[in-house]
Amino acid sequence: MSDSRSDAIIQIQGVTKRFGEVTAVERVDLDIRAGEFFALLGPSGCGKTTLLRMLAGFEQPSDGRILIGGQDMTGVQPNHRPVNMVFQSYAVFPHMTVFDNVAYGLKVVGTARGEIRPRVEEALAMVQLEDYGSRKPDQLSGGQRQRVALARALVKRPKVLLLDEPLSALDAKLREAMQLELVRLQHSVGITFVIVTHDQDEALSMADRIAVMQDGHVRQVADPQTLYEYPSGRFVADFIGKMNLFEGRVAASDATALAVEVEGLGRIELPPDGQAPGAGQPVGIAVRPEKVELFRKAPPEGSVARRGTVAQVAYYGDVSYVFLDLEDGPSLNATVQNADRAAEPYFTKGETLWAAWNPNDFLVLGE
Ligand SMILES: Nc1ncnc2c1ncn2[C@@H]1O[C@H](COP(=O)(O)OP(=O)(O)OP(=O)(O)O)[C@@H](O)[C@H]1O
Ligand SMILES: [Mg+2]
Repeated sequence: MSDSRSDAIIQIQGVTKRFGEVTAVERVDLDIRAGEFFALLGPSGCGKTTLLRMLAGFEQPSDGRILIGGQDMTGVQPNHRPVNMVFQSYAVFPHMTVFDNVAYGLKVVGTARGEIRPRVEEALAMVQLEDYGSRKPDQLSGGQRQRVALARALVKRPKVLLLDEPLSALDAKLREAMQLELVRLQHSVGITFVIVTHDQDEALSMADRIAVMQDGHVRQVADPQTLYEYPSGRFVADFIGKMNLFEGRVAASDATALAVEVEGLGRIELPPDGQAPGAGQPVGIAVRPEKVELFRKAPPEGSVARRGTVAQVAYYGDVSYVFLDLEDGPSLNATVQNADRAAEPYFTKGETLWAAWNPNDFLVLGE
């Protein structure tokens, strides 16, 4: 039975997974497009691995169904699915050479002898390990071992590669290099990648689209910039990146005006927004720290501006986080670019400043 939708290679339709009392994944609907680099992102325990394992066929949905390439996968064994999975802790056989590790998966399915060598060499070339075939895994770095695990999956020529936290065992520098490498690899082989991660930077920098999960639910599916700049609700706003989040109540909301009474900030006039909740409704109101500018003199007209005292400065080299205690109570984080070379911090603890930002940079979050 074929039930394909034009560009969706994976269709997840109303999928729930229960383990006894625990509902790991709940009523998830999701389409993943052919050739896409797709990320499942969310905190520990939100159901990412469970969803991936259902795509691979290692778990069966309690409800709903999964289609891959238009085919219903219900009852289809993992080795009969056009997918391959790279596990959270990379599994390579320590007693086998790199070549034999990669060849193993072809041998067990009875691939013709003459075909094995060129296929393994092609897979090793894809991950830039063509000269490492005769080494054993313990003669490789962590990043190289991870690439062996990737080659093992790629050699089977899957339509979809499923990657569960493939870089979590690597140190920060290597991890960043491998992120770029994975994106390059995905572009060159054109296979659909579905990667699981709880690292938002990793998801933002690598993926074409991201599904953000919380407690078994998908909260938002969007490209990285939309997720970051237009999060659909408080959870996504807070989980992705850094955020100043305040509680407020809508004071006026119609076609011509939007005003919110915000705890500790007072009344804020915002551009009218037809989607905003009605007057009297509680809302979250949020602004990203890099949108907040700090001034020693009066800030520009038309900005939202409040006075505050620097409580702490955290130095990160490229940027500093300046934490202000605003006059009316709440604290506010401003990210400052350290664009000029200097030996001393530009803002110092205890000084009083203006914090200002464009009202257009405020997010009004209904849920
Ligand atoms: N085989 C199982 N039996 C019972 N509960 C399970 C089983 N597998 C997963 N769970 C539960 O389902 C929920 C989701 O687990 P899952 O492994 O999918 O989370 P995750 O998002 O991958 O987390 P992490 O980032 O920590 O890997 C958790 O509460 C987990 O304890
Ligand atoms: Mg997991």
